[in-house]
Amino acid sequence: MPIKSIAQIKNVKGKRVLVRVDFNVPLRKAGTGLGLSVQDDFKIQKTLPTIKYLISKGAKVILTSHLGRPKGVDNKLSLKPVAKYLENVLKQPVTFLKIERLEDCKTIQPTIEQLSNGTIAMLENVRFIPGEEDNDVKVAKALASSADIFVLDGFAVAHRDSASVSGVAKFLPSYAGLLLFNEVSVLTTVMKRPKRPLVVMLGGAKVETKIPILRHLLQRADHILVGGEIANTYWWAKGNDIGASRVGKEFKQEVVKYCENKKVVLPVDIVAGKEDGKHVKILSTSSPFTVHSSQLAIYDIGPKTVELFSSYFKKAGTVLFNGALGKFEVPPYQKGTFALMKILAIAKAYKVVGGGESVEILKKCGIINRVDLVSTGGGAMLEFLGGKKLPGIEALK
Ligand code: 3PG
Repeated sequence: MPIKSIAQIKNVKGKRVLVRVDFNVPLRKAGTGLGLSVQDDFKIQKTLPTIKYLISKGAKVILTSHLGRPKGVDNKLSLKPVAKYLENVLKQPVTFLKIERLEDCKTIQPTIEQLSNGTIAMLENVRFIPGEEDNDVKVAKALASSADIFVLDGFAVAHRDSASVSGVAKFLPSYAGLLLFNEVSVLTTVMKRPKRPLVVMLGGAKVETKIPILRHLLQRADHILVGGEIANTYWWAKGNDIGASRVGKEFKQEVVKYCENKKVVLPVDIVAGKEDGKHVKILSTSSPFTVHSSQLAIYDIGPKTVELFSSYFKKAGTVLFNGALGKFEVPPYQKGTFALMKILAIAKAYKVVGGGESVEILKKCGIINRVDLVSTGGGAMLEFLGGKKLPGIEALK
């Protein structure tokens, strides 16, 4: 069953709409003696269309999000700085509602009742409430009692089976916000009806999160270009000396099986060196290779691999790019990832980029507007691509 978007809500005017967003964004010290302020607003900006849409229709918008992983109430993880940021960008007041315990959900009711149409309130970090992350039904009910309609607009939290994500949807008519609806639609199309050839670029660390994606995408993609820890694990399994490179030893069998599938393309050369970017050398992987020293590790793909992978991007109908190809934070190990990203930006393919650092990489390369979809989901995107059903999305069906 497809999910319904907020565009399908009939008559939202005057209704209390609880919107679960993902405002789990990095904060920084605003200056000496000042509090915290938003450091990276990417996820907030992506939610603005939903907030503005609901305001324009005369809804009473109640935003709820988590920030970090607090163990109980923690002032450093208060969402107040985010509420301030929102006031500034939306140029309208945001009523901040302190909730720290289940009972507070009742205490805030009179304030919510008094909200005028087209105004915004924002709840304090929902993870301050005990039971939120365990999807305690009491928390879900308490949150639902402050609203008439529920909207999930945080794709990045859709994989969390928590009270404010999947729990509350059981008690209210529930819809997807514009961000969530778009991300789910695009990623579903990429999985089911992509413009072919579908080329997947799979890099990054944490082999355990990439194995389900490899398994799932091997049935769907035309080519899977592999880098990062998966490639390291493969070379290690084949007896190469990969020095201090990161590997997922416990996934040896699966990695070998998947990497030997003819759809999978491995790097033909690599850049090895010290963690600080010194003692760098390029090695070919076409025959057995050795990194030689336990001080050195594989930190990037080499120039021949950039050329090889680029040729796939140029022919692709769709490119799905997930995870960096190297330790891009340390020069010169950014070269492979940045070169590929820049080629991707000018490729004709439909382009979807996601994964932990993708926004940072796209911003650094100055090409964030050249991509068709930049996913806001880290873990959520990985689970979605791995074919898992996400509790937040299932709850909307
Ligand atoms: C994220 O930033 O990926 C989401 O906000 C999820 O955060 P969590 O991993 O703490 O649930």
